[in-house]
Amino acid sequence: MLASLDLSGRCVVLGVTGSIAAYKAAPLVRQLKKAGAEVQVLMTPDAERFVTPLTLGTLSEGEVLTEIFPENEEGSWTKHVTLGQWADLFVVAPATAQTVAKLAHGFCDSMLTATALSARCPLLVCPAMDRDMYRHAATQDNLDRLQEIGYEVMPAAHGELASGLVGQGRMPEPEEILGRVAEVLAETEPTEAPGDLPLAGHDVLVTAGPTREPIDPARVLTNPSTGTMGYALAEAAAARGASVTLVTGPTALSPPPDVEVVSVRTAEEMNEAVQARGTDADYVFMAAAVADYTPADPSTSKRKKRDEDLVLHLRQTPDILKTLGAHRRPDQVLVGFALETDDALENARHKLDEKNLDWIVVNDPTEEGAGFGSSTNRVTLLHPDGASEDLPRMPKAEVAEALLDRVLTAHHDPGT
Ligand code: CTP
Repeated sequence: MLASLDLSGRCVVLGVTGSIAAYKAAPLVRQLKKAGAEVQVLMTPDAERFVTPLTLGTLSEGEVLTEIFPENEEGSWTKHVTLGQWADLFVVAPATAQTVAKLAHGFCDSMLTATALSARCPLLVCPAMDRDMYRHAATQDNLDRLQEIGYEVMPAAHGELASGLVGQGRMPEPEEILGRVAEVLAETEPTEAPGDLPLAGHDVLVTAGPTREPIDPARVLTNPSTGTMGYALAEAAAARGASVTLVTGPTALSPPPDVEVVSVRTAEEMNEAVQARGTDADYVFMAAAVADYTPADPSTSKRKKRDEDLVLHLRQTPDILKTLGAHRRPDQVLVGFALETDDALENARHKLDEKNLDWIVVNDPTEEGAGFGSSTNRVTLLHPDGASEDLPRMPKAEVAEALLDRVLTAHHDPGT
């Protein structure tokens, strides 16, 4: 019966905690994926002692998340909120006594518990622990509390436990959990009917981050872009139903869920990746900080420090956006970004014309709270008809939303 389950298009967050039963999360992910569900795995740090993120990441075809504040991940600390909104169902399997207690009392000390608090969807908790822990009045009170606040709890199964004891405490088998998942999902509307979202059925191409141009195997020419603006745009477009491809230079950010990621390093690689996908895209947002010059003759071995002065011969990289603009489909929407320190509006208008764009987003990297490495941005939007709009300084995620609002209002249905 389970073989015919159809969970296509349903979004499931699977939280895995530190119990020996964590190994059963692997077949559970596999079966969810086979049934067509999209799966985002979250693990507590202790879960990683029992099963590796690599295993669950490979099976779920996505990055496994553990920490709310991953090192060097500027801007991504709100992912628990996005995931909480994305999920149609949140399953915690296995749920240890510790996690059951945390969920019952609203703790949010990991990506898993914080996402559980943010989730608007049903939660299905599948406890797994030793017999006496399960029987303990504190655990039973916590499980009752979970049901009071509206969570589904699958009672632990009876049988042999890892300690050698026999009793109630085993995690239900993945097939049983899958059956319950299907039942709960059958009673739940998808969080948003994908067809109703404004970018449903549209391809969006976003570029982000810096490029790295090799001087030799140990050195590169690059810039301080962190990719935050492009990643925020990719995430916002995906949340509006678009099928998003994110072509990204090297960054420390983890990609948003539901976005196809193409990782590149050099301007040349970015050019190839973008030109290969550019004509299919209905909207292109070129937020990457592409190097304009690359060493003409990168050395294959590390240059030795010999002379007092070193002169590098640089040659221009392809102008990716200009090439796209020259060969654009008339119904495409092309949005460029302009980094300007002097005569910003005049220079940006020139780029708008020269690259044949519909919009250009101008910002000044020297301004406080704008540009590279800042979590906020202050931009001006320019349109070829002469219109311009100054947006106030705001978080880059909000700049992304505002930009999409403007673009979608102006261009109703490109590509159809
Ligand atoms: N861009 C591009 N390919 C390049 C350089 C820039 O596609 N080789 C894109 C950027 O991603 C951005 C827009 O062109 O969307 C403008 O980039 P910017 O660096 O502001 O301007 P440049 O065209 O490089 O001109 P300049 O450096 O002289 O200001």
